[in-house]
Amino acid sequence: MAFVSFSTVFVSVMLFTVSPVAGKTEKTEGDTVEFTPAEFTVSITTMEWTHVDKSSNKIKAIKWDSRDQSLNIPNPRFKKITSIDTKTGKLTIESLTKEHSGQYKFELNGETKGEFSLEVSGSKEGGFTEAKRKGEPFKKEEGQEVSFLPKDFAKATQSMIWKHIAGLDTTRVAEWDPKDEPPVTFHGQFRNIASLDETTGQLTIKNLVEEHSGKYTFYVDGVEKETFILVVSKRLPIPTIERDTGNNPNIVYLKCNYDGSGHKDLLIIWSNSTQELRTMKPEEHDKSFIVEKSNNPDNYYTCSLKSPAGRETSLKAYERDLFKESGLGEGAIAGIIISIIILICGGVGAFFYKTNSVFHDLIHDRFSCLRGNAPAPTETNANVNVPLRNSPSSTQPADGD
Ligand SMILES: *[C@@H]1O[C@H](CO)[C@@H](O)[C@H](O)[C@H]1NC(C)=O
Repeated sequence: MAFVSFSTVFVSVMLFTVSPVAGKTEKTEGDTVEFTPAEFTVSITTMEWTHVDKSSNKIKAIKWDSRDQSLNIPNPRFKKITSIDTKTGKLTIESLTKEHSGQYKFELNGETKGEFSLEVSGSKEGGFTEAKRKGEPFKKEEGQEVSFLPKDFAKATQSMIWKHIAGLDTTRVAEWDPKDEPPVTFHGQFRNIASLDETTGQLTIKNLVEEHSGKYTFYVDGVEKETFILVVSKRLPIPTIERDTGNNPNIVYLKCNYDGSGHKDLLIIWSNSTQELRTMKPEEHDKSFIVEKSNNPDNYYTCSLKSPAGRETSLKAYERDLFKESGLGEGAIAGIIISIIILICGGVGAFFYKTNSVFHDLIHDRFSCLRGNAPAPTETNANVNVPLRNSPSSTQPADGD
């Protein structure tokens, strides 16, 4: 046994050291890239791709855990466009943008097994996925990054100016003047978050907040060239699953709860461990999602909130927890016991309150709520929160080594 694992480790180490670190892959915005790690013989527990971007920020791109068959893509930079082959570890990223440039590291069962380098350049004809949606607003969430790449302009000779128009306020964002040293100036709130590509005129703003919403107009040599519209919405809340039982022990009713303030037009997507099962439009959000027992205790359910700019997913509700015999969780039992204690104490108090005049006056002066209204007994609810497994949630911060 010891020999087998030794030789496997040896073979993998050999494969890793023998396979050269791949050279730099060059792509254009909108392209798809694939990185295939060297073949391996060990059985897979976890496979993870991390990304180190141009500013040396390290984030988790995608993680696959074979124990619970879970796929985790925590960062908006990779959500919806990234996939992993669960047999070979091959990474695929579609709709590339410049922010995908940098180093990609493949880790198998926690050990580094390959490194790749990617350089994404702006497309010449402005064929950048986002710019294709001409006239449509760019929809982003707080914390994300946006790039406006102007089309149809040859070259500025005297000036380039980006202005931001929000309501009645027009402010300058960035200015390029070859006579200045340095030639690029950023203004006000954009000073530390904006960058300008001097050759293409592309404006990039990172760490977006709601106040950055509005119009962005680009002027070249004093002539207005193009306007982009940006809508930045609040970061999506993380939804939670609530379970309700009925008369049928083989059926549970799930609700997807979330704090929807500041959000509209969100979709709820229900999935089990293999696929998406149902999408609920905003007007259907108070409907239950009905789950029938399938006798696969490892199956789990999640609900996700989806906006045009992002997606957040609840913790996993495993089938084995959803169909637990007892309808009452520990929380509900504790709630009932506390209610009973409150009722008993209340009763004893009320007895003294009626019979002992000193106590009566004392209480009457201190607790104005006793004048008229009896204290309401604590309510217990039939709805029980499902004990959810701690799993690599979609909002887990990127971890270091
Ligand atoms: C998930 O749901 C689909 C469609 O109902 C079903 O075919 C599949 O078996 C389910 N997955 C699991 C693991 O139960």
